[in-house]
Amino acid sequence: MSLVQDMAAGAPPLAAKSDAAPPRRRWTLLWRILAQPKGAIGLTLVVLYLLLAIFGPMLAPQDAFRQNFAQTLRPPSAAHWFGTDQLGRDVFSRVLVGARATLGIGVGGVAVAFLIGVPLGILAAWRRGWIEAVLMRAIDIMLSFPDIVFALAVVAILGANTQNVIIAVGVVAVPVFARTARAVTLSILAEPYIEGSAALGASPARIILRHVLPNISGTLLTLSTLLFASTLLSASGLGFLGLGTQPPFPEWGTMLGESRSYIRSHPYLATFPGLFLAVSALAFNLLGEALRVIYDPTSRRTARRAPLFAFLRRRPAAPSPGIAADVEAERSAVSVKALRMAFRTRDGLLDVVRGVDLAIRPGRTLALVGESGSGKSTLLRAIGTLANPQEVAITEGAIGIGGQSALGLSAAALRELRRRKIGVVFQDAASALNPVLTVGAQLAEAVSAGSSLDNEAVRQRCIALLQDVRIADPERRLAMYPHQFSGGMKQRIVIAIALAQDPQVLLADEPTSALDVTIQQQILVLLREIQAKRGMAVLLVTHDLGLVARFADDVAVMYAGRIVESGEVATVLERPLHPYTLALRASAPGAGEGRGQPLRSIPGEPPLIGQFPAGCTFRPRCPRTQGRPDCAEREPEPRTVSGRQVACLFAEEGLS
Ligand SMILES: Nc1ncnc2c1ncn2[C@@H]1O[C@H](COP(=O)(O)OP(=O)(O)OP(=O)(O)O)[C@@H](O)[C@H]1O
Ligand code: SF4
Ligand SMILES: [Mg+2]
Repeated sequence: MSLVQDMAAGAPPLAAKSDAAPPRRRWTLLWRILAQPKGAIGLTLVVLYLLLAIFGPMLAPQDAFRQNFAQTLRPPSAAHWFGTDQLGRDVFSRVLVGARATLGIGVGGVAVAFLIGVPLGILAAWRRGWIEAVLMRAIDIMLSFPDIVFALAVVAILGANTQNVIIAVGVVAVPVFARTARAVTLSILAEPYIEGSAALGASPARIILRHVLPNISGTLLTLSTLLFASTLLSASGLGFLGLGTQPPFPEWGTMLGESRSYIRSHPYLATFPGLFLAVSALAFNLLGEALRVIYDPTSRRTARRAPLFAFLRRRPAAPSPGIAADVEAERSAVSVKALRMAFRTRDGLLDVVRGVDLAIRPGRTLALVGESGSGKSTLLRAIGTLANPQEVAITEGAIGIGGQSALGLSAAALRELRRRKIGVVFQDAASALNPVLTVGAQLAEAVSAGSSLDNEAVRQRCIALLQDVRIADPERRLAMYPHQFSGGMKQRIVIAIALAQDPQVLLADEPTSALDVTIQQQILVLLREIQAKRGMAVLLVTHDLGLVARFADDVAVMYAGRIVESGEVATVLERPLHPYTLALRASAPGAGEGRGQPLRSIPGEPPLIGQFPAGCTFRPRCPRTQGRPDCAEREPEPRTVSGRQVACLFAEEGLS
């Protein structure tokens, strides 16, 4: 139960926006359960138990109700595998027949808890205010009673029979469902798309049915499975006390209760129903744990490290030691060498980053630009050591952060590297903050991770961080929740969290594209100031060449997973040599031929991963190629031309 209460108390809101699996991913979910040893064992046992519940009465070799006083209390034998009870009934047959009632009570109890608890939790999150306060206090009071005492009270009031046991164990589990549903709903309601949906006039019922329920279903499924085990045990406890299913109907808890008087002289009477009960609880717990790992991103990384069938998958090639050593010696804050990455898809490994070299020196900002889908975020995640190895493989090359190789590290070393050296800011500040925790709590978590600061020192550091990002009245703001801040303020808080451990490298993936132009400027000016003060290296992913010109020192232009041109901003943007950079510059706002002129777009579409054309990948859209056979024959390697790196066979033509 502690696991379940754990979920209720701190129901991880991130889990809510889990990959709430759409239907076509059902098989993927099954695979992901089976890929974990506990999932495979749990699911197999659960399926066996369900089959037992369905077919148990048919499989029973003898009449489970027939008494035979000539055969009472017989030990296990060939005729009676589990022996006979005090009335001469075959225990094996009673265990098989009792499976249906036992598991039925578990299912019924969870259903009662789900149907009452989930709507209450959603209502509390939706309405907030006094409704939430009253509901949550009532639930806290219920949670303060031990389960079995509460269930006993309910059965004592309603009377002892199977139906009332279902109601009792269900009511006992309501608080856990309600608290979890509230917590995960709160986090979903804070998502920008909910606001968007409300702005479009969607009714509350529609928002809940369309957005909230599908998103929290993964968490609730996990919780149901975990609760099933505890419900089963509570119901059996009632059965054992004689308050459950009434004789002569077999139910494992009741059978245990009946065997109480014979526990010393005939222990097998209790052993077999007890064993079936214990293993069933274990099975559901294992399955619930496996689901928890799938739906809770915080436990996912550990769990995915060694999936049961991992050896069947293609292993990424180990990074070349020569290059890794090179990285160690590198003085750059960020150093990426010959990096190749590929997404694991049903069609095999599909190249997404193809031989990228990058370096960012301390105190400098490198802007990474390129059309949507060119691989910018994938590259940034890899540099931030955030690439999920189950989704994407680093097949070649090396990444160095502050002179330390970021590849091939143990989980602990990786966490340390991330904490000490890397800060990350994503586009969507709203979803980067936990809606149910105060800003102070979130900052404190970031500050105190891996440090031995006392509470007051942590608080002072949080205040200093908020001051750093120009948030006025920081002491008061610490007690506020993310929803009480505007978008720009939230992004400042996200930046403060990213800076909490004084990183050497700040990775920012379109950090301002969700903000209006004025706020955009403020945030970037702020980043620039903080960078100058701390000497950080910044990798800024953006689509806005205007921002690049104003805020970056260097620029790397990415196309179809490769850097096609890179160098100092002034050099590259002043006189681009790659036709793609030229086209990007021409399509930037402000680059039109005059006011009122439409923006130019780049003809054609960027290629999808797995469908890159042979030769130069830009060839189908390139105005410079003019059918030159060289462009179709080989992919140009980056080379130095006029003070920058450029990957075009005819780059010099840009100079003329
Ligand atoms: N998990 C995945 N499996 C397969 N392909 C993926 C996966 N995630 C992203 N992709 C594909 O990889 C390519 C690169 O994606 P990425 O998000 O890195 O692009 P991006 O340059 O950041 O684009 P944007 O500017 O839109 O953010 C895209 O074509 C995308 O569709
Ligand atoms: S190599 Fe050829 S196709 Fe590629 S960018 Fe240069 S001119 Fe265009
Ligand atoms: Mg991106």
